[in-house]
Amino acid sequence: MPKWLDNAVFYEIYPQSFMDSNADGIGDIRGIISKLDYIEGLGCNALWINPCFVSPFTDAGYDVADYCTVAPRYGTNDDLKTLFEELHKRGMHVLLDLVPGHTSVEHKWFKESMDPEENVYTHRYVWTDSIWESPEGMNNIRGISQRDGCCGVNFFSTQPALNYGFYNKTRPWQMSPDDPAPTATLDAMISVMRFWLKMGCDGFRVDMAASLVKNDEEGKGNIALWKKVRTFLDKEFPEAAMVSEWGEPDKSLEGGFHMDFLLHFGPSHYNDLFRCDEPFFSKRGNGSIAAFADTYKKNYEKTGGKGLICIPSGNHDMDRLARKFDTGELKICFAFLLSMPGAPFIYYGDEIGMRYIEGLISVEGGFGRTGSRSPMQWNDGVNAGFSSAAFEKLYIPIDPFPDRPTAEKNINDENSLYNEIKRLIRIRQSHTALQSKGKIEFVYAQENAYPLAYIRSDDREKILVIINPSDKECGFDFNGAGQELLYTNGIVKISEGRICASPQSAAFIKLDRVHI
Ligand code: GLC
Ligand code: CA
Repeated sequence: MPKWLDNAVFYEIYPQSFMDSNADGIGDIRGIISKLDYIEGLGCNALWINPCFVSPFTDAGYDVADYCTVAPRYGTNDDLKTLFEELHKRGMHVLLDLVPGHTSVEHKWFKESMDPEENVYTHRYVWTDSIWESPEGMNNIRGISQRDGCCGVNFFSTQPALNYGFYNKTRPWQMSPDDPAPTATLDAMISVMRFWLKMGCDGFRVDMAASLVKNDEEGKGNIALWKKVRTFLDKEFPEAAMVSEWGEPDKSLEGGFHMDFLLHFGPSHYNDLFRCDEPFFSKRGNGSIAAFADTYKKNYEKTGGKGLICIPSGNHDMDRLARKFDTGELKICFAFLLSMPGAPFIYYGDEIGMRYIEGLISVEGGFGRTGSRSPMQWNDGVNAGFSSAAFEKLYIPIDPFPDRPTAEKNINDENSLYNEIKRLIRIRQSHTALQSKGKIEFVYAQENAYPLAYIRSDDREKILVIINPSDKECGFDFNGAGQELLYTNGIVKISEGRICASPQSAAFIKLDRVHI
């Protein structure tokens, strides 16, 4: 695993909404470069940038039309290269977003593939051999060319599925992953990776990584596919970092990924924390952490105690954390997010409490996700400092409320969410036990009960983390002694075999003796 992942704290940038450098209303790479001081100032040392490649943007760029060219609206390949260089000068790193499962219908491979005459791209996508047969279990495109067949799609109807083969073949048109055409698809994707890694990119966040090989319920075909990618990386780019959108770390890590996301879909119970009717992190205190912690423990064991699970504050697909939580609640969320194993991912704007914008008309296939993708609010200037274009030209309307949070207000207020997160990152960065590979042991994670407590440790130290999101005082029996309070928000005390946490509190306590 690349050494820098040990203490990486990621910042996710949705490029169209971060910073517009040329007044066309859309964020761009030069804009990102101009804000690196801000990101570094917060304490983040790594970026994940959503797809920034040529695309018709029916799914905000997750419909790639040319994998090796930056979309003109974001700048040029040279701009991206400059971003890599600027980051590296600061000791920072960057993951690009690799979308290997599907392309846009406008990709030249797909255009060739629609041709009824056999050619190199005929089997690049998942096609049935008759217009009357749909690929089982998938939506599909049909009747758009003279080719006699239906093409499976992965997400929107504009995103035809690339052909990596079928793990269990049930129809004659299905190929096995090792057949020449699926092998050529994987080779083409490896060339894309090589192209960006050579240019200086540090790795990839991989979109829908579990979905490439079809009819693969247990994930064996996809694990085998990613192992081939691992062989390529070990040989040519051993320092490249790979983070998967998969949601099942035991499988993705076996496939050679370094880290996996817990997500709003899949079996992780991530939604129990922040995004369900009674989330654990609400001050109402009616949530339950037990199912999340149990699943986490199982994954932790299945990954041989490596854990390497990334828990994002949110992302471009989920509701903003601030849709349901106030600043007090958000601070407790971040005490948790920044003290768990794996690398934390902060979605741009979450650090200043940016809100979900209600009632927006969908932009570029965002639908309900559009409200979480609005322009970053930098200051009280025109368009919140995001762009000097006319308001109507902005990619997505900005939060219209006059009391909207901004980076500037946050930076200048000692008690802001931003400054709390900055403190938390600093503490994480100075204690290896709190970083990616530090061990975790849950001390208190009970059904319908508060607080949550766990010990992070490595061979240097043991740190007890206590998190009480609820607005009630609560506690649990604990037989150990604390030595130094590394972080506190509210009052958390250890005395006479008991821990007592004041309403809405969090603390990190360095332990000298523990008997549990
Ligand atoms: C992933 C992306 C999402 C996109 C989808 C299809 O889930 O995060 O934004 O729409 O894949 O590529
Ligand atoms: Ca721009």
